[in-house]
Amino acid sequence: MSRLTSPKVVNIEDLRRLAKRRLPKVIFDYIDGGADGEITMRENCRAFYDISFRPRNAVSLANCDLSTRTLGLGLSLPVLLAPLGYSRLMHRRGELAAAAAAGRAGIGYILSTFSGHKLEDVKATSAGPVWFQLYMVGGRETAETAIERARTAGYSALVITIDTAVAGMRERDFRNGVKALLGGSLLAKVPYLPNIAAHPVWLASFLMDGGLPTLHNIVIPGKGTLPVMDVDTALASATVTWNDFTWIRQVWSGPIVVKGVLTGDDARRAVDEGAAAVVVSNHGGRQLDCVPASVRALPEVVGAVNGQIDVLMDGGIRRGSDIVKALCLGARAVLIGRAYAYGLAAAGEAGVTRALEILRDDLERTLRLLGCESVSELNRSFVSEAYSRLSSQPRNFQMVE
Ligand code: FNR
Repeated sequence: MSRLTSPKVVNIEDLRRLAKRRLPKVIFDYIDGGADGEITMRENCRAFYDISFRPRNAVSLANCDLSTRTLGLGLSLPVLLAPLGYSRLMHRRGELAAAAAAGRAGIGYILSTFSGHKLEDVKATSAGPVWFQLYMVGGRETAETAIERARTAGYSALVITIDTAVAGMRERDFRNGVKALLGGSLLAKVPYLPNIAAHPVWLASFLMDGGLPTLHNIVIPGKGTLPVMDVDTALASATVTWNDFTWIRQVWSGPIVVKGVLTGDDARRAVDEGAAAVVVSNHGGRQLDCVPASVRALPEVVGAVNGQIDVLMDGGIRRGSDIVKALCLGARAVLIGRAYAYGLAAAGEAGVTRALEILRDDLERTLRLLGCESVSELNRSFVSEAYSRLSSQPRNFQMVE
């Protein structure tokens, strides 16, 4: 019996447990953690509990259609793998493994700028649609080189992440000595080495892979590629502003996806700037803490966009029923981040495939139990009215004395 199959791995939390066992604390916490008090990160998951289903029972369905289309591309499930920087630290095949698993499952993969594998190799590994997520590290000239490479390699959309004016305060990274491990003197690293040594399987794989990866897709003119750097340094020069969009449209003629939208105003601005889709996202609770859970922000964005472009969402998806709820509230598809990162860290491509299998089975079962034969037929009538009322009004908190 494989360690990835039932009953050992029944849900995403089981993959998380395996990832925690295999990874040094500094890497596990980089995936698992969020910003400040991690309020938004927890709320992303918890907010799904507030939404209840309204099933149509006594219905038997011969087939269930889980497929959807976004930006003209067919997906076998309404799911894409979100861009995750430094995936090569989770597993040495990192981005290659994730892209291959996505392609095999017939879904999309979004490659982060902060990738340890060359974007050309990642594209070649996947049989499905692959999008490139752009950070402006190194300025416009550097970004233009990456965009041109992505175009030549066949990436079908450019994803612009807009919620990283600076890096969020990831407290776990500070406590785990990320800065010291990446840049400090050997002496500064010493306190953190025992925990890394206590994870020999990961360590052996990391060393055999050549240690810290190079960021192959950031080629700075006159300087060359960059090494892995801490998130503060990486994001310090990576910010994209609305002023960059005119230039982006000049250098990229394909569809543009704006990721990190939480309000109707930003959604309408994205439409005005020529976006083909927006992603309602708070970066998995890793940037500004205390912004709303993505699923709570979703109805406002769906209303503001008013069918002009596709609305995608991410944040807190751990079960197929979460995907169904997001689609009921107007998302065309969801991105998943940690749900596949845990699988990748636990077992590479096989782990990502297992994560997708769990979500796919959940999704189909949920549709059948709801009495809905296609994801395209999901709408607000399948979720509780109580939620709809709550989502359009701020929540009242009563002070208890
Ligand atoms: C991210 N995210 C992210 N987003 C992005 O636009 N570029 C990036 O390089 C990264 N890197 C990254 C690393 C890790 C380890 C995580 C967990 C997240 C955010 C990501 O794309 C997505 O928005 C969230 O992960 C969604 O939330 P869940 O599914 O993880 O709850």
